Amino acid sequence: MNNLPFETWPYKAQTEFKHKVFQEYFNVWVKILGRYHRLNYMDCFAGCGAYKKNQTIHFGSPIIAAEIIKKNDKTATLVIIDTEKKDLDNIKKILDYRGLSALKVLYVNQDFDQSINEILDEIKDLAPTFFFIDPWGYSIRYSTLKRIMNNNRSEILLNFMFNAINRFLSLGSVEETTNNLFGSEEWKSILGKKGVERETALLSLYKSQLKKIAKFVLPCKVEFPGKKRTFYYLFHLTNHPKGCSIMKSCFAKYTFGRLEYLGERGSQLRLFEAIGETKIEDAKKHLTAKYNNSSKSFFEIIEENIDSTKYLENELSNALKKLESQGKIHIQRFPKTTEKTKRLRSSIKEEDLIHFNKYPVVKRKSLLYKTKVEYGNFTINHVLGCAHGCNYPCYARMLAIKYGQIKNYEDWMHPRVVANALELLDKEIPKYKKEIDFVHLSFTTDPFMYDMLNKRTYPHIKELTLKILEKLNSNGIKCTVLTKGLYPKVLASNRRFSKENEYGITLVSLNKSFKKDYEPYSSPFDLRIDHLKYLNDKGLKTWVSIEPYPTPNIVKQDLDKILGKISFVDKIIFGKMNYNVHSNKFSNNKQFYKECAEKVINFCNENGIKYHIKEGTPYSTDQTRIIFKEGN
Ligand SMILES: C[S@@+](CC[C@H](N)C(=O)[O-])C[C@H]1O[C@@H](n2cnc3c(N)ncnc32)[C@H](O)[C@@H]1O
Repeated sequence: MNNLPFETWPYKAQTEFKHKVFQEYFNVWVKILGRYHRLNYMDCFAGCGAYKKNQTIHFGSPIIAAEIIKKNDKTATLVIIDTEKKDLDNIKKILDYRGLSALKVLYVNQDFDQSINEILDEIKDLAPTFFFIDPWGYSIRYSTLKRIMNNNRSEILLNFMFNAINRFLSLGSVEETTNNLFGSEEWKSILGKKGVERETALLSLYKSQLKKIAKFVLPCKVEFPGKKRTFYYLFHLTNHPKGCSIMKSCFAKYTFGRLEYLGERGSQLRLFEAIGETKIEDAKKHLTAKYNNSSKSFFEIIEENIDSTKYLENELSNALKKLESQGKIHIQRFPKTTEKTKRLRSSIKEEDLIHFNKYPVVKRKSLLYKTKVEYGNFTINHVLGCAHGCNYPCYARMLAIKYGQIKNYEDWMHPRVVANALELLDKEIPKYKKEIDFVHLSFTTDPFMYDMLNKRTYPHIKELTLKILEKLNSNGIKCTVLTKGLYPKVLASNRRFSKENEYGITLVSLNKSFKKDYEPYSSPFDLRIDHLKYLNDKGLKTWVSIEPYPTPNIVKQDLDKILGKISFVDKIIFGKMNYNVHSNKFSNNKQFYKECAEKVINFCNENGIKYHIKEGTPYSTDQTRIIFKEGN
């Protein structure tokens, strides 16, 4: 160790921190940007390249950068600048020693400011370039930083030597240098301030100046080891929110989640912080207050918070997930499912839309209409789309695509409520009242749609459905309801809803693997039945639609078992499966449905249940079509 072919400097804790952050971030930067571009790394105050602490060698910024470029096998040029020739020679020796001499390296033995300005004068289309500006003093010119950041793909990690600068400010005859440093004369108004107040004012002035030249500016305080005093601030400047977010996480990783390096003190303080309200709770309050009644993509949320709040990207994401699980926000994920397993995605990506106290909506010109469905009368579809992802296939979805209401399956999976549904009803109820026997909710969407990810009914859909039911009932109109979701208990309230309403569920199987393929995101079968049973037990009328019933080549199952589970209901509708290639291919299709229909009819007769067999299914008759008409 004593015979090293290069010089070393002593290694301090805060230098180690600086190197860790730089190493972590630069590695990601090289990986991401190096995918499509050749890169430059400019070490503007290179140092001697190596340090020693307790006989262990630690390498300096130019060597760390070279190692990362080699490890990632990327095309990059390293520009190593230092006014000390012997430091540059030392770096050359270290690169040789580490087997890194094959990299493209330019050594510049000149003043940083002069060399950078010369480079920028020469090169107009600079490749993505990372500038590490790590001086000992205050000789940085704002105008040079501005020139660097004029290039959209440049980034800077800058050491703002606060302690040196602060001391320097108190001396006389510094006006020109300080004006150059801040790019403004505003610092003069801060001279009268003292202590923390002065530090805060200087920091905020410098940050606001840097914000004029870079979209994202993030400082991290570094204290003197063992002292409660600021040594310097590391500033990260970038034009990309992702870059800022990643650097913030790097700072946090080595500062116990803070943006301050407090040396040993850091780990002790953490204990006290743990007692207060969590950062996630804080972030929840911040986000709901800032975005109330608006919709933002997660990317916009990162952009608008990453360098202006204390929260890390994963903290913002966790706060949003918490708000979602508490039903306080609605998140539209694009795409909604994972690519491979087709599970509902719980992560939040940049393109996802977050709705704060707001929901995706459509407007309609009319709502109430007469249905062609044989057992229906009037009907309402107050939601466009359905989140259940049915693959029978879903006839409603096929029609919506055909008529250009939605683009595709993914689009259909994002339900939008009809914003003017209640206003439309106010106009349409008086118009159709005399003609209406009853109103059905709904044939092309689900009025109590299940949100599988959050294991509950979509709150806004439920609320609108309840208001519609209430409005129709208060006008003396009975409703029939059909869902693959869960019925809310509030329907049992006689004050709000008519006892004449008839509540149904669709139930074509009890088989879980069939559900995964055919109606993956609808409510679980057993819960669906339980919620219906609750209404039945409260004396309300209930029914089940066993349609479209699958053939045995799709799922082998016992119809008796399904019937057995729903023997409490008042009415059953049974129908075959249409539009499904497998079902149509089943050779005994006709005979099979005949036997099923017989079974349903016998079961209903034995249990005093009314039934209707759908048109096209054996044993269908005209008489039972009026199953929901008054008196039936
Ligand atoms: C803090 S050290 C750099 C440490 C290095 N970045 C690291 O992490 O290992 C500062 C270096 O800047 C060099 N330096 C001082 N003034 C300079 C200037 N005007 N232009 C370029 N280099 C300068 C010094 O010679 C010294 O080697």
